[in-house]
Amino acid sequence: MEKAQLVYEGKAKKIWSTQDPDLYISEFKDDLTAFNGEKKSSEVGKGALNNKISTVLFKYLNQKGVPSHFVQMLDDNHMLHKKADVIFIEVIVRNIATGSLSRNLGIEDGKILPFTLVEFDYKDDALGDPKLNDQHCMILELVKNESELDYLRFMARRINTLLKDFYAKRDLTLVDFKLEFGRDSDDNIILIDELSPDNFRLWDSNSGKKMDKDRFREGLGGIKVAYEEVLSRILEEK
Ligand SMILES: Nc1ncnc2c1ncn2[C@@H]1O[C@H](COP(=O)(O)OP(=O)(O)O)[C@@H](O)[C@H]1O
Ligand SMILES: [Mg+2]
Repeated sequence: MEKAQLVYEGKAKKIWSTQDPDLYISEFKDDLTAFNGEKKSSEVGKGALNNKISTVLFKYLNQKGVPSHFVQMLDDNHMLHKKADVIFIEVIVRNIATGSLSRNLGIEDGKILPFTLVEFDYKDDALGDPKLNDQHCMILELVKNESELDYLRFMARRINTLLKDFYAKRDLTLVDFKLEFGRDSDDNIILIDELSPDNFRLWDSNSGKKMDKDRFREGLGGIKVAYEEVLSRILEEK
């Protein structure tokens, strides 16, 4: 399968159409952005690492019955996947308080939450990805009905349970993450986009070392080494 037309260029990927109207190719870029695009950089090899990490995780979730857009990894920077109509809700799952949750609500950084928190943000860079409640989602017509919101929450919790366990076996603590969903050509809601340390917070379970994009956000350096470590750990058979 080959790239045809550039459909969309985002902050982390280029999306290409293919000869098959139901399939797209994602090209993972080396660009790094944070704070809604205000902080920018690039790290050679970051795109390939995110493609490889996403591939391992999509395969694992597919095996466990989570429907996603993933078809196959084509080469270092390219993934073949189903085309979807994007649902413009960022589904945020949090096990431990940090980042904006700690800042906005004054919850101590690193506090284990009493239960898994699932939040919705509006996927709209121009508006700065504001928080959404169920009524906002309905007014904006981001979903067809409220039970679809319950389905997104259900899938997010299921994915969290699976990934938390998968990472824990590899001495990684899944702190929080962002998921995107879309509708495939049969109108089924499926998991889309990428599953990478650009969108996941992962801490080394023993040292607490940050193994994700917070290294870039906080200017800690060593981002590529951390992503390589994540890839090598998730490739371990457990
Ligand atoms: N299967 C898919 N079909 C259509 N669009 C998708 C699919 N998976 C991801 N996308 C969208 O493609 C874009 C990926 O590029 P990215 O660089 O991550 O964009 P952004 O800057 O919006 O985060 C995102 O807008 C994402 O919602
Ligand atoms: Mg993105």
